[in-house]
Amino acid sequence: MPFINRHKTSCALLILTLFCTITFAQPSPLKSSSKIKTKVRQLLAKMTLEEKAGQLNQYASYKNATGPISNTGNIVDEIKQGRVGSIIKVNGTVDIRIYQQAAMQSRLKIPLLFGEDVIHGYRVTFPIPLAEASSWDMEAIKLSARTAATEAAAAGINWTFAPMVDISRDPRWGRVMEGAGEDPYLGSQIAAARVKGFQGNGIGNLDAVMACAKHFAAYGAAIAGRDYNAVDMSERTLWEVYLPPFKAALDAGAATFMNSFNELNGIPATGNRYLQREILKGKWGFKGFVVSDWGSITEMINHGFVTDKKEAATAAMTAGCDMDMEGRSYIENLPRLVKSGKVSARLIDDAVGRILTKKFELGLFDDPFRFCDEKREKLIVNSPQSKQNSRNVARRSIVLLKNEKEILPLSKDVKSIAVIGPLAKAKKDMNGFWALPWGKTDETEPVSLFEGLRNKLGAHTELKYAKGCGVNELSKAGFDEAVNVAKDADVVIMAIGESYDMSGEAKSRSNIHLPGVQEDLVKAIQATGKPLVVLIMGGRPLIFNWTADHVPAILYTWWLGTEAGDAMADVLFGDYNPSGKLPISFPRAEGQIPVFYSYKNTGRPLVNVNDINYKSAYLDLPNTPKFAFGYGLSYTSFSYSALKLSSATITKHQTLHVTFTLTNTGKYTGEEVVQLYLRDRVASVTRPVKELKDFKKIKLLPSESKIITFEIDANKLSFYNQQMHWTTEPGRFDLMIGSASDDIRLKSVFDLVR
Ligand code: BGC
Repeated sequence: MPFINRHKTSCALLILTLFCTITFAQPSPLKSSSKIKTKVRQLLAKMTLEEKAGQLNQYASYKNATGPISNTGNIVDEIKQGRVGSIIKVNGTVDIRIYQQAAMQSRLKIPLLFGEDVIHGYRVTFPIPLAEASSWDMEAIKLSARTAATEAAAAGINWTFAPMVDISRDPRWGRVMEGAGEDPYLGSQIAAARVKGFQGNGIGNLDAVMACAKHFAAYGAAIAGRDYNAVDMSERTLWEVYLPPFKAALDAGAATFMNSFNELNGIPATGNRYLQREILKGKWGFKGFVVSDWGSITEMINHGFVTDKKEAATAAMTAGCDMDMEGRSYIENLPRLVKSGKVSARLIDDAVGRILTKKFELGLFDDPFRFCDEKREKLIVNSPQSKQNSRNVARRSIVLLKNEKEILPLSKDVKSIAVIGPLAKAKKDMNGFWALPWGKTDETEPVSLFEGLRNKLGAHTELKYAKGCGVNELSKAGFDEAVNVAKDADVVIMAIGESYDMSGEAKSRSNIHLPGVQEDLVKAIQATGKPLVVLIMGGRPLIFNWTADHVPAILYTWWLGTEAGDAMADVLFGDYNPSGKLPISFPRAEGQIPVFYSYKNTGRPLVNVNDINYKSAYLDLPNTPKFAFGYGLSYTSFSYSALKLSSATITKHQTLHVTFTLTNTGKYTGEEVVQLYLRDRVASVTRPVKELKDFKKIKLLPSESKIITFEIDANKLSFYNQQMHWTTEPGRFDLMIGSASDDIRLKSVFDLVR
């Protein structure tokens, strides 16, 4: 049996984190905020209206566009004229230097900001964000963002358009892969971890990039899961579910925000004054700046909210959008709009001031080329250290869905393995969507599952391969070969799922079953009777009911990035004991969507599945998801016992201390994510049947026990009352502690009293 070293992974994470900070952290160009304020004021006084509009204007280069390019002129000339404040989609110190040099030829020599979608890694790809969310491991998530920032900053970039903190409960929406899943509490923790990872010891350090919390707001609730679609949402749901991760990102220091493509209750987010001026810059006191999404200012014409670009610019600026990404509405119209009195000069100065402040904080006025050191770029980008970090995070992101008869972990002494499926040798697909394109290396660099197995097992294990079928094709011509290969082997490992472009932006799907004939291939292989492990790779929760019901061992690996194959092999052979938990519910059928764990009880709740008459139920499906939020197995097992509450009652000024004992009752060292849920039984506004309020990831040796403590204070008991005030109400609470939202192991109650 493989030996899993107790301290190995946590020590590795610590060392890697230290490596990042020690090796790459540089003294920041410390600027006191009052000095920066003065400098910004002085600079604003020198600027013409056209130059101010220039600072609010962002262009994309022609590379890697993720939307229509509006700029038909010569970007470099426009930069020299002071008409551009930021460039996106230019990578590498050499190219970035060219644009920055142009900015240095403008009248006021205001440096450019360089933005990029560094979503899950820069050069070395990490697991997609939804996969990392499955780790429930804030240090791992921080390390991923830290490594990405370190690489990106070394390559000249000073701003990433991440983290995406949109909650989504709709796996039809392709961008679900880019977020942290369905839950506002988990989503908030992850939002903060990512911001801290990207911004490190603070922007201005040479290993930090500005984070951008996006997409403000409610983009993840696009009607019917169709990307860019309208959002219609109650104020309550907005505040309870969709806004908390944004607030957490802001509290963690996010330097910038991006608004979004969707309308919210009839008003496009980009032109939404309530969201941007009242909530973000008003109530929350955000001091950074807001960038539009790609062309989203101009798109307000299509929304039917404004007539032309002039009106679009007026609406967006008035609403609090500071920078125009690839839309040209600001640069073409703002100077005239100010001169004619349609837009106030004060608003322009505020927006420009916010952007200049960040340029000062980044140290770009001290040295516009400080992120353009080719030597540093060569040393840091694509380093073995980045790859090691990626592998470490990748294995933590894998979720073990099923392990009957303890098929896993596999023995390294196995003589022959059949590796079957359209993704068994896939490489680019391992990176998933939002991986930056590096040309030929996308096809050659990521470690495939097959290669990972070869690396792990060496030559003494025979690896046989058959593709079986394509990812999304209907031909079964390869089935016979695959079945024969399976029959010849001791164990079969299958790799199925989605190719890299099946989830992501503009990748919504109405059918989220395993694509093509892949599930038929699973049936054919299962019929051989060979021990079978299925690995499912993809960017969203897929539906695979037959596989789930019949295959004894299933790992959901998502898209794991550059080191995917090695990370999967680590888990398959027990060099890492899987510890992931689902951050989003997996439906049984598309008709259940949205299905999520924190639903309301209703007046006719389904209590007994055998009695659905006039109950809130489906005639043709259970209410429950196939795999629940928080679910994920380990090679070991854990018992929960000895629940104690410090008191049966608390007031809102007191803290309830909850303790219990967690014991590793299995054979392997392992990590368990213990989850605390609460239910407010009766309130002036009905509360969900369960809400995640805390969690901890605990590592235990076989037979080891630990006493775990949770603290419950008034904030965890609060909700928005009928007047939308964040408050507590006296009453009884159910306390539930468990291994998943549907696997509660310990229960109690307590009362909140006056
Ligand atoms: C996406 C953003 C992204 C931007 C720049 C847009 O299409 O919605 O999330 O940051 O493009 O690439």
